[in-house]
Amino acid sequence: MNQRRRPRRLRADGIRPLVAETDLSPQDFVAPVFVDATTDERRSIESMPGHERVPVADAVDRVEEVLATGVEAVILFGIPGSKDERGTRAWAEDGVVQRATRQVVAETDAYVVTDVCLCEYTDHGHCGVLGELTVDNDATLELLSRTAISHAEAGADMVAPSGMMDGMVGSIRGGLDEAGFEHVPVMSYAAKYESAFYGPFRDAADGAPAFGDRRHYQMDPANAREASREVGLDVQQGADVLMVKPALPYLDVVAQVRREFDHPVAAYNVSGEYAMLHAAAQKGWLDLDGVARESLLSIKRAGADLIVTYFAESVAEQL
Ligand code: PBG
Repeated sequence: MNQRRRPRRLRADGIRPLVAETDLSPQDFVAPVFVDATTDERRSIESMPGHERVPVADAVDRVEEVLATGVEAVILFGIPGSKDERGTRAWAEDGVVQRATRQVVAETDAYVVTDVCLCEYTDHGHCGVLGELTVDNDATLELLSRTAISHAEAGADMVAPSGMMDGMVGSIRGGLDEAGFEHVPVMSYAAKYESAFYGPFRDAADGAPAFGDRRHYQMDPANAREASREVGLDVQQGADVLMVKPALPYLDVVAQVRREFDHPVAAYNVSGEYAMLHAAAQKGWLDLDGVARESLLSIKRAGADLIVTYFAESVAEQL
């Protein structure tokens, strides 16, 4: 063998950290927090061990727990007290996310991102108002814009539209600007796939579609080139941060968006990615800390700057 080239020289303990190409920090993570207007006690989410739905009154405590691990950003999801055809509680001034945001912003130092979508708020569970066959794209835009403005009014630091409506970023950007929130950035769920990995989240946030699925608005898992077109449209419409979702099954897309765009790239390590590692660990088949850390490191290596992940707190504590 050619004895001059020995990659193992750089794998000794002292040098490994010096030549590491990627690392993880708690500041890379955004921790999802579920706030539930239908309960007055904290309820654990069975398919997402360690996660809970908390009442608005406990939102600050829940966020303080996140901050104590070194993670500085949260993304709030709401379960409203009631649902209707149009999802009107999504933009209510006294809505669950609006109330929680006001308190968290007033009482903590967290950077508060809010998820902007209608699926938790509509009685049919789709991400917009219904048209004849599927969600009516253009009729939904105005409602998303209203929702984003109501979040900004409550003090949200950043809004994150996740509904995969065409034109949603432009409509939200326009609405925010007109309402005087030109400083509030938009993190777009720019390439969001119609994925079976969202299962546990739909239990957690009670947002499963009552009929059909989301394949007429979320992306086809078969497509990667299309992701570049989707992301490009969001860039034109003023998106500040570009998200790919899910993360692990779509690392090719994360890497592609990293290469093709110069905006910050986010990846959402979704509920199913979290649940499957927990389930295997519960059986004793995988070491949870190890696979969690390796998953997040891989997502960064693929090119993500920030990661939305249910592992935020537990991995931050290991670092
Ligand atoms: C809402 C939304 C979903 C997720 C984030 N925002 C659900 C969906 O599109 O079905 C999924 C998050 C996860 O699985 O962790 N539109």
